[in-house]
Amino acid sequence: MIRMFHVQVTYPNRVAALQDINLHIRKGEFVFLVGPTGAGKSTLLKLVYRGIVPTKGQVIVDGVNVARLKPRYVPYLRRNIGIVFQDFKLLYDRTVYENISFGLKAIGATNSEIRQQVKKVLNLVGLEHKKKTTPHLLSGGEQQKLCIARAIVNEPMILLTDEPTGNLDPETSWEIMQLLLHINLRGTTIIMASHDKLMVDRARKRVIRLEQGRIVEDLPKGIY
Ligand SMILES: Nc1ncnc2c1ncn2[C@@H]1O[C@H](COP(=O)(O)OP(=O)(O)O)[C@@H](O)[C@H]1O
Ligand SMILES: [Mg+2]
Repeated sequence: MIRMFHVQVTYPNRVAALQDINLHIRKGEFVFLVGPTGAGKSTLLKLVYRGIVPTKGQVIVDGVNVARLKPRYVPYLRRNIGIVFQDFKLLYDRTVYENISFGLKAIGATNSEIRQQVKKVLNLVGLEHKKKTTPHLLSGGEQQKLCIARAIVNEPMILLTDEPTGNLDPETSWEIMQLLLHINLRGTTIIMASHDKLMVDRARKRVIRLEQGRIVEDLPKGIY
């Protein structure tokens, strides 16, 4: 599903954010990306959705070399990728329902498709009863569930999450974690950057550790 070969990313200010990254993430895997701040976790996620292109090496997503992708095909790649960040980036003047339907409208879904898909995903994240509310009336955990709903509503193959529990208390974080594990069980490949050690320990999934832009450890599911 995702392969990287000898990937290097050097930002314009000459910071070498990633060096000689080689990895293979299979369809349906759940992978944690761990490591200290500045290790390159967010940079690695950006490569997958072509937020950036590698300075050297190859990034292959679902068989496609994303660095070579023509700009007009980038939206097609991104339709297959959902993204959830630590800060919610929600539309605060829209309802919960509209926050989720917005992207579906943009890709030309019909009204009945939209209603059906939004309902399904609201049920999945447990926010059906809040669909007419605006996001600022939701708790932090509920806002993150809304972000997850928005990210998966068009059923992407890959879900990238960058410190999705960074602003949440431990109990709420674990709830979000369980939701992500559930989504993974339905077949979505998930990469989650996190430095919440307790949660990573508890989830018992594959763990890739980055330090100063390099992979220093890659432990399979159940070992960590
Ligand atoms: N847009 C950018 N321009 C220049 N340097 C950046 C940029 N984004 C990140 N960096 C640098 O790249 C390195 C890796 O950053 P990042 O991928 O954000 O790490 P992490 O997510 O693990 O904290 C850091 O040294 C950071 O300062
Ligand atoms: Mg980061």
